Amino acid sequence: MSAAWTADVVGPCLRAAFHDCGTYSSVMCTEVFGRPTGVCGGCNGTFKREMEELIASNLTRFTQQNGMQLCYDFLWGTKNVAAAIRAHSGCASMTDADILNLSGMVAVQKSGGLPSAGCNWLPGRPDAAGVDETPRLPVSSSDATTLMAVFAGYEFDTSMQFFNMEMAETVATLSGAHTVGQSRVRPVGPNSMGIGSMTVTDTVFDGEYYAEVATSTKGWFGPDHRSVVMGTGNKGWFGSDRHGLCNELSDPTLNLKDRHCLDEASPFAPYYKSYAADFQANNDAAFFSKFCKTYQMMSNIGLAFDPTDYATNHFTITDALLAP
Ligand code: HEM
Repeated sequence: MSAAWTADVVGPCLRAAFHDCGTYSSVMCTEVFGRPTGVCGGCNGTFKREMEELIASNLTRFTQQNGMQLCYDFLWGTKNVAAAIRAHSGCASMTDADILNLSGMVAVQKSGGLPSAGCNWLPGRPDAAGVDETPRLPVSSSDATTLMAVFAGYEFDTSMQFFNMEMAETVATLSGAHTVGQSRVRPVGPNSMGIGSMTVTDTVFDGEYYAEVATSTKGWFGPDHRSVVMGTGNKGWFGSDRHGLCNELSDPTLNLKDRHCLDEASPFAPYYKSYAADFQANNDAAFFSKFCKTYQMMSNIGLAFDPTDYATNHFTITDALLAP
């Protein structure tokens, strides 16, 4: 995977890793539709099939997977990195779920976001048959309360306890993935700032995303808005990102660019501000360390999180391991 890596798959593969796992909802699978456990989603490799149906349906089914074809092509299509991985000794039965999840961590490493000691990664995600319900994933219009509820459905309790993190910190930290990649999905919706780079340095994994969100002014398009000052203006930020700082945005009938932040009372705000300050002090170590932990939590959605596995049974992904 490392040898075939190109910068354009950083964003799509990191997002795809989340979109495989984030389909899980314990509440929806057991209570709302009365479905038995087993079709609850989670890290199960069904992203691959959902992408295939998205493409075959001319982008009308599984629309939440739109925008990640670069990763699909990289892993299973034109580049078929999955086949190359399975050709390695001992890797023949590696699942699609594991290959996709690993590609997300490689995306973080390739863009410079691993902690200095590396980040532990575990195989062992079985592939599921069928497809998952992608509307379970959070969307660009999600406010802070919705994001907290969606992530609560991922059942992070054991892993949060193990890593000594709480829910708002977990959501705020995972959202930092938006420091890389691009908004690629057209047409642009009312909750998006447009198509294009998520941050100025969109192939560099750092705390820039937090600095951009946290230093925005209450008048979103005000003259001192950082991205406007920097001349980029048309960022791929979403309503959900702005809720990293604001609990309440003005008039929901307006497009995002015209909505003002009415407060800085989001439960995520302390974390956004802290990571932003670290970035401005040129020290993203805390973000990198916490992101590694939250990526591990995410990588176990829908599976039992066994802390001892992370203590004993892992591979450590490091810069040296993935050196070209
Ligand atoms: C917190 C809730 C989240 C929401 C509401 C959200 C929403 C979005 C949206 C709307 C896009 C733009 C899609 C497009 O226009 O092409 C996007 C892109 C992206 N998301 Fe998220 N996301 C969330 C969490 C995450 C997480 C947890 C990760 C990974 C750990 C992630 C990784 C990414 C990446 C890397 C991109 C850029 C994709 C590319 O370059 O093609 N997101 N997200």
